[in-house]
Amino acid sequence: MNLFPSDRSIADRFNPDANLVLYRGDARDSIETIPSNSIALIVTSPPYNIGKDYEQKTALEQYLKTQEKTIGELYRVLREDGSICWQVGNFIQNGEVYPLDIFYYDIFKKLNMFLRNRIVWHYGHGLHAKKRFSGRYETILWFSKSDNYIFNLDPVRVPSKYPGKRHYKGAKKGQLSGNKKGKNPSDVWEIVVKDWEDAIWDIPNVKSNHPEKTNHPCQYPVELVERCVLALTNEDDWVFDPYAGTGTSLIAAIKNNRRAMGSEKEADYIEIAKKRINSYYDGSLRTRPLGKPVYVPTGKEKVSQIPEEWKDNVQMNLFEEEKESK
Ligand SMILES: C[S@@+](CC[C@H](N)C(=O)[O-])C[C@H]1O[C@@H](n2cnc3c(N)ncnc32)[C@H](O)[C@@H]1O
Repeated sequence: MNLFPSDRSIADRFNPDANLVLYRGDARDSIETIPSNSIALIVTSPPYNIGKDYEQKTALEQYLKTQEKTIGELYRVLREDGSICWQVGNFIQNGEVYPLDIFYYDIFKKLNMFLRNRIVWHYGHGLHAKKRFSGRYETILWFSKSDNYIFNLDPVRVPSKYPGKRHYKGAKKGQLSGNKKGKNPSDVWEIVVKDWEDAIWDIPNVKSNHPEKTNHPCQYPVELVERCVLALTNEDDWVFDPYAGTGTSLIAAIKNNRRAMGSEKEADYIEIAKKRINSYYDGSLRTRPLGKPVYVPTGKEKVSQIPEEWKDNVQMNLFEEEKESK
C-alpha cells in the first residue's frame, strides 16, 4: 500500500482519516485529541530541561513530575501492541551528570511497561569536556506496552561482517551460520574505530555539516527514527512524536508509508517542519540514507594529519606510528 504522495495535506489536529497531522501547541493538549489505543509507536526526544531556547529549566524533580503526567497520557493513546522510544541524553547540574534515562526508567516501569532495549546512540562529534570524558552517546529507551508487541527485524538488518562464516562443529558443521538477509543491528556501541562502520546505532549526530541540519538546536537524524519505525510498526500504522521539533519523526514515518502526528509548541519549528515535509514530497529534502556507513578518515586528508606545530610532541608521534602500522 502506498499512502503517499496521493494525499499530501497536513491536518492540524488528530483525525483518524488523515495521514499526517501537525499540532501547534502543548504536547499534553495534543494528546487529549487522540483516541485511546490508537498509536503504534511514540518516538520522541523530549526537552532535556537543560535551558535550551524552547524550555524553562526547573529542578530535576519538578521536570520529571511534569513528564510523568505526560507519559501517563501517552500510555493511554498507545496500542496494546505498541511501543515507546524515548531518546534522551544527560541533565547536567553544577558539573554533575544525571543520565535522564535512569530517571525515566522508573516512570515507564510504574506503568507496567516492558523495557525491550536500551539502545546506545553513539556519535563521533560534540563538545570537548575539560573535567570529565567527552560525552559521545545518548540513549533510546524502547518500552513495549505488552508482551505482544510488533517487532520486524528483517527491514532493519545490517550487512554481516563475515557472511561466509560456517558452523565448524556439531550437526550443522559446514553450513553457513549467518542469515543471508543480514545480521541483527544490536544495541551496543563499539569503541574500536574499524568496527564503527558495522556498529549499529552509530548514526552521525545532526551537526552543521550534515545534510539534514536546520536552525533547531537539538534535531535528531531521520535515519535514527527510521530504524524504530521500520522495526516497531507496520505500514499504515500511526507514529506520534509529542515533541516534534522540525518534524524529523514525521518524515521518517511518511517515508515508510506510516501515518504520522506531531505536536510542537514553537511556531518557528512548526514552519520548519512543514517546509521539510513539503520538500520531502517534492523530492528536494536531503536526508542521510538509512544504513549509509559512517565516514572514517583515510588519514590522507589534510585535517587528519598531525600539523607541523605539534610534531615535537611525543604522544603525537606515537599516534602517527600507530596509524602507519595499520
Ligand atoms: C529535543 S527537541 C526535539 C527535536 C526533534 N526531535 C527534531 O528532530 O527536530 C524538543 C522539542 O520539544 C518542543 N517542546 C518543548 N516543550 C513542549 C511542550 N510542552 N509541548 C510541545 N512541544 C514542546 C521544543 O520546542 C523542541 O522543539
